[in-house]
Formats: sequence, structure tokens, C-alpha cells
Amino acid sequence: MAMHFPTLVAVVCAAVCGAYSQSIVFDDTPGMERQFDGIGGLSGGGATSKLLVNYPQEQRDQILDYLFKPNFGASLHILKVEIGGDVQSTDGTEASHMHNSWDENYQRGYEWWLMKEAKKRNPNIKLYGLPWGFPGWIGQGTHSPYVNVSMTADYIVRWINGAKVYHNLTIDYVGIWNERPYDIGYIKALRATLDARGFQNTLVIAADEEWEIATDIQADPELAKIVHAIGCHYPGTLSDPDAVYTGKQLWASEDYSTFNDDVGGGCWARILNQNYVNGLMTATISWNLIASYYDNLPYYGNGLMTAVEPWSGNYVVETPIWVSAHTTQFAFVGWNYLKHGYGVGKLPKGGSYVGLVNPTGTELTIVIETMSHNHSVCIRPPLPAYNVEPQVVNISLAGKFSSITKMNVWYTKLGFDGAKDILFEKRDQIQFVNGKAQLSLGLDEVITLTTMTTGQKGAYPEPPPSQPFPLPYTEDFESYSLYEEPFNLAQQSGAYEILSTNNNTFARQMTIMEPVFWCKFGGVSKTVNVIGSTDWTDIYVAVDFQLPVINGSLGAFVAARVDQGGCEAFSAQGIFLFAFPDRYIVANDLARTKTLKEGYLAFEAGEWHRLGLLVQDGNVQGSFDNKILFNMTVPVVPISGFAAIGTDSFGLADFDNLQLTGPSEGHKIMSKHLLSKSLYFEKEHH
Ligand SMILES: *[C@@H]1O[C@H](CO)[C@@H](O)[C@H](O)[C@H]1NC(C)=O
Ligand SMILES: *[C@@H]1O[C@H](CO)[C@@H](O)[C@H](O)[C@H]1NC(C)=O
Ligand SMILES: *[C@@H]1O[C@H](CO)[C@@H](O)[C@H](O)[C@H]1NC(C)=O
Ligand SMILES: *[C@@H]1O[C@H](CO)[C@@H](O)[C@H](O)[C@H]1NC(C)=O
Ligand SMILES: *[C@@H]1O[C@H](CO)[C@@H](O)[C@H](O)[C@H]1NC(C)=O
Ligand SMILES: *[C@@H]1O[C@H](CO)[C@@H](O)[C@H](O)[C@H]1NC(C)=O
Ligand SMILES: *[C@@H]1O[C@H](CO)[C@@H](O)[C@H](O)[C@H]1NC(C)=O
Repeated sequence: MAMHFPTLVAVVCAAVCGAYSQSIVFDDTPGMERQFDGIGGLSGGGATSKLLVNYPQEQRDQILDYLFKPNFGASLHILKVEIGGDVQSTDGTEASHMHNSWDENYQRGYEWWLMKEAKKRNPNIKLYGLPWGFPGWIGQGTHSPYVNVSMTADYIVRWINGAKVYHNLTIDYVGIWNERPYDIGYIKALRATLDARGFQNTLVIAADEEWEIATDIQADPELAKIVHAIGCHYPGTLSDPDAVYTGKQLWASEDYSTFNDDVGGGCWARILNQNYVNGLMTATISWNLIASYYDNLPYYGNGLMTAVEPWSGNYVVETPIWVSAHTTQFAFVGWNYLKHGYGVGKLPKGGSYVGLVNPTGTELTIVIETMSHNHSVCIRPPLPAYNVEPQVVNISLAGKFSSITKMNVWYTKLGFDGAKDILFEKRDQIQFVNGKAQLSLGLDEVITLTTMTTGQKGAYPEPPPSQPFPLPYTEDFESYSLYEEPFNLAQQSGAYEILSTNNNTFARQMTIMEPVFWCKFGGVSKTVNVIGSTDWTDIYVAVDFQLPVINGSLGAFVAARVDQGGCEAFSAQGIFLFAFPDRYIVANDLARTKTLKEGYLAFEAGEWHRLGLLVQDGNVQGSFDNKILFNMTVPVVPISGFAAIGTDSFGLADFDNLQLTGPSEGHKIMSKHLLSKSLYFEKEHH
């Protein structure tokens, strides 16, 4: 067995990182260490790019340039996306390409579009797909995707094949099951299915949780052959010695997840260097790529930049974009890290440096960071205390680099305590005399020294000013393409997509059975799709709905003041007006554990009807078609929240003509309706 794994010098820091030297050396004489696999962003896990899709074209293109365009902004090397599974996967659900075993569709959602936009800008960008959950049929009534591993492998490889056939996209990497158990039999079935269908070049990353698969890799040569890189989440810059011992590439396959202010930028700068310096990780992928999900959904703003206002076009290029540029614009997939002690290490008075070299050894890029502890704390794991002080370091270039006389300099200093940020500015070149130069370093800086003459701080005019969600708002879906996801509606359970029958375009909830959940505590068997703002208190929301005759949901609802999304959506409170063929129910929560009122209704599946809900001045009125159903006192909690539509069970349901207005306009609409107690009796609940 020992022969099977390269005897790797486990340079995990102890040997060299602590060594105290005023002088840092960049020397290729002892050769290179590991291959650099790139810096990336993760779209999904889940629905994190949701609001980006329907930005005005002009701003949307600008945003995509900041993310993907080489030599412009973050210029990312890897785009990782969720393989939608019809499950809530953090900030929403993303559609599966196979809601059911008999269904296959490669036009759903926005990840295909995003991957194509990324490739358009950078044909060399690497694509990586990973599922968070799976549609229910994969689990066959269990909550595991491993009931029939060849079926699951077939399902995933169909997605990879769909990428190729329908979108001309080559998927470079595929993962197992995000932050959930892996199954070695499944990994083998996945590799076998990939090979059998011509995807020998799609490499397996495992297992997107911690390092635990390392011991299985050591014990199983077949598995060792299959796993291209061990992907660990939030490693805190450290890798496990077992993982190092496998000789596999080590990736921080999900990392960052920190609010994108300057501390977030500091976190990102520190981990981009130290994931290699401390943990030999050769790729780092940010969760998430872009924060394009509503405020008050979990982990708001945890992306490299923020774009949450498709209605205004406003977006913000945040610090992590420019921190990324320090590495991404000057080092590329296939470059190599210098060895620890010869161009990779810790600075004498805190901070770190990495040296990266192109395959022919002609270009050298050095990235230095001096992030202080409190200005670079990531959301997880806890960051042990350490000190950084201003320092002067002597840089010494040796080996092939000793003939370098000057390098280009790019400079960032994160401004705290009122100081202004300096972000990714080109500075005067640094001159080397006999391969030597001095560099003065302050705190919270990122400095790139590079022989590369490229590099650009891309810029567009200021985007339009920020605006609140526009009211009144109507949505009839008529301008959509088939299978698109309704814009601005952020599905938190269930999968909604645009369909058209009888010359009418509408949104259908497609999930007909409970999926293989990602959220640990599963979920209630309801779907919910939120819109607007969690600050909304008084509001009018109305929608046409239809429960299809075949595989229809038991009921549909409109709601106001829905206070939670993400995995917490299942315990959301709000004011929910459910319509069933024989009654209506007003509930204080999605799960309907707390009924506020119920009454009589009569309609048939296959008919369109309209539900309305007005919250105004302490009262709630509900309407069905043109009749007022009830008028009641508003419940004490919650005091504000999203508007929403949804279904009472997994099952098909159609929605159209969504209308949102402020309360006074809603009042006018309601006033035209008849209060019809003769038709609808009500029953109070206390
Ligand atoms: C750094 O370089 C300066 C000038 O070249 C030299 O005087 C000094 O001794 C060097 N310091 C160290 C620690 O090498
Ligand atoms: C597992 O799935 C495969 C492919 O979908 C199918 O051919 C096979 O019959 C299934 N095996 C079992 C035991 O159900
Ligand atoms: C598909 O993508 C490749 C690059 O990956 C490109 O060379 C080719 O022209 C594309 N084919 C089509 C039909 O767009
Ligand atoms: C860092 O933050 C901790 C906790 O907030 C605080 O006690 C400490 O003084 C801070 N250190 C510095 C150097 O600002
Ligand atoms: C469909 O609707 C469009 C626009 O309302 C109309 O022009 C067209 O005649 C309709 N087609 C049919 C078949 O009803
Ligand atoms: C309804 O569900 C059954 C399985 O539960 C399936 O066989 C059938 O095709 C579905 N019909 C539609 C229209 O979705
Ligand atoms: C609803 O009830 C409130 C409080 O009883 C009352 O002031 C209001 O006029 C009622 N609205 C309608 C439309 O009946």
C-alpha cells in the first residue's frame, strides 16, 4: 500500500511556517510543489443567484463581467453550480432536470444560463456540479439517494450529458452530495457511468464535507483512483494529515460564507493564501458567487458581490471582488506553487505569502496578505488569536528568478475605523538589485508582485440608485419562455416553472412528492414561494390559482408577513389563506399548526379561482373570486414579512396574475368585492 501513495513531505507548517526570518525567498531551484487549481465561486446551494437573472441586460452584463471576465474583476477560474434537486438548499430551491422519473428537461432554472455566460467571457473557466438534494423518486420513499446507486448515477450523468447536448457545456468536475453522507458504492457507480457515457474527463471531487473520505481513500485503491481531489468545506485553512497523505489534490471546495464588507474581504484574502500555506489546498471556492437573494433570507450578503435589485438595476461591487483579482488575474489553473520555505510561508511578523509560477517557469506571481485577526474573521470556523505587525521584509529572488529586475505591483489596503479602502490599485514597479528588494508592509494589506504585465481594475459607470421593491406589482407570466422560473418569486419549497396551455402562460408548482431533503430537519409537505420584502407590514396580495385534476395539490394559498425562508421556511409564520375545494383556512404558520379561522368554500380541481388577502390597519380580509370571505383582527405575530404563494401539499398547482399592492390600493380592490355571508359562513378559532 505504501507504494500506492507518494511519500509526501507533510509540510504542514510546523517545519517552516514558524521559522523566523526577515527575508523571504522565491526560488525555483528545489522545484515546484503543488499545481494550482484555481479560485472559484459557487452559484446555488441554494438559489443564491436567483435575483440576478432578470436584471436589466446592461447591468446584468456588467455584473457578469465583474465576476468572470478575465483581466477585469474577480476573473474567476472555477464556477461551481448546484445540480438542482427540487429541495430547499439554503436560500431557496433549484429545479431538478428530472422532477419525476418520466420527465427530463434541460431548460429549467438559471444555472445553465449562468454557466454559458461565464464560458462566453472565459472559455477556460472550469465547471463543477454538485447536488444538494434529489427529487423524491430518487429516494423511492426514503430520504437517501443511495437506495439504487446506479439510478442516482444515471440521474447525475444525465445532467452532465444535458449540459453538453443542450448547452454545449463541458462539466469538468462533479461532486457527490453536499455536506451529507457519501457512499463509496455510489462514487464507483458514478465513475463507471461517466466512463460508459464518454465523460472520462469529468473528474470526481469528494466528498464536499470534511476530510473524512481520506481514510477510505487510503484503504481502497479503486476509490483512490476515482477521487481527483478531496473537497473540504470551511477547513479553517488546515487540512487533515490523512488527507495530505493520500497525495490527492486538496480543495476548499466551499469556503468564505461571510458578509461581504471589509472584514469579509479580509477573510477572503487570508484564506486564499493560507489555505495553501497552512493546508496545501490548491483551490478555494466561495459560497457564494454572488449574493442575489432577498435580505432576511439566511446568510444575506455572503457573496463576492451583491445584486438584489433587478427592478432598479442597482448592484454593489464589494471588496472580495478586488481581493480575488490579486490572485486570479495573475495566476491560472495549471500554474504551480513554489515550495514551502522557497516562496510559500508566513511572514516574520504575521501575514502570509505564496509564490506561483507558470508551467514554463517564465512568470512569477507573489501574493502577500497581512490581514489582522479582527479584520479577517470568517463566519466559520473560529479563528485562533494571532498577531500581525507592520514590518519591512527583504525579498530575495533566487534560481531562475534571480535575473528579474522589476515586478509589477498591485495594492489593496482595507480601511477600518473610518479610513478609506484602497482596492486593487496599480502601483510603481518594485526594483530588484541582484535579486533583492525591500518591501514595507502595513496591516490589512494585499500586495501582488508579478512579472505579468496584464491586470486591470475593470470599471463601469455607477449603477442606478437603489430602490425598494416596486408596488403595485403584477405578474401574468406572458412574456416568459417555457420552463423558466418566475422572476422575483423566491421558491423556498417546491419547484415552480412557466408552462402554457390554452394560450395562457402561468407558473406551475411541479414537485409531486416529498424530495430527498437537504435541510437536516426535512420539511413540512408544503411548498412556498416568497416575494418582496420582509419589511412589509400592510399589503394586498392576490393570485389566480388552479389545482390540476391529475396529481394536483390538496390546496393553494396566498400569504402575507411570511417571516422566514431557507431551511427555516418550513417553520415560517405569517398570515396564510389556504383554499381547499371544500373550505378555506386562515393559519398563522405554513405548517398550519395554528388555525386562526376557517370557513366554507366550494370549487373543483381544474378550475381557475382568485384568492386575495389584505392586511391593513390591524385587520385582515380574505377574498375568493369576488367575494369577501372574512374580516378579522390581524394576529399578533409576525409583524412583517414577505408576500407568498404556495401549496398545501407536494402536488401540482397553477398560479397566474399575481398582484401585489400597498394597503390603500388593496382596500379599493376589496371594497368592490361583496361581503357574502350567505355563501361563506365562518368559524372562529380561539
Ligand atoms: C534587509 O536588507 C537590508 C538592505 O539590503 C539589510 O541591511 C538588512 O540587513 C537586511 N535584513 C535582513 C534581516 O536580512
Ligand atoms: C436500479 O436502477 C437501475 C437504473 O435506473 C435499474 O435498471 C435497476 O433495475 C434498479 N435496480 C433495482 C434493484 O431496483
Ligand atoms: C461548443 O463549444 C466549443 C468550445 O468549448 C466551441 O469550440 C464550439 O464552437 C461550440 N459549438 C457550438 C455549436 O456552439
Ligand atoms: C478584537 O476583537 C476582540 C473581541 O471583539 C476585542 O476584545 C479585541 O480588543 C480586538 N482586538 C483588537 C486588536 O482590536
Ligand atoms: C393567443 O393569444 C394571442 C394574444 O392574446 C392572440 O393573438 C391569439 O389569437 C391567441 N391564439 C389562440 C389560438 O387563441
Ligand atoms: C401523476 O403521477 C403518476 C405517478 O404518481 C404518474 O404516473 C403520472 O404520469 C402523473 N401524471 C401527470 C400528469 O403528472
Ligand atoms: C373589518 O373589521 C374592522 C374592525 O371590526 C372594521 O373597522 C372594518 O370596517 C371591517 N371591514 C369591512 C370591509 O367590513
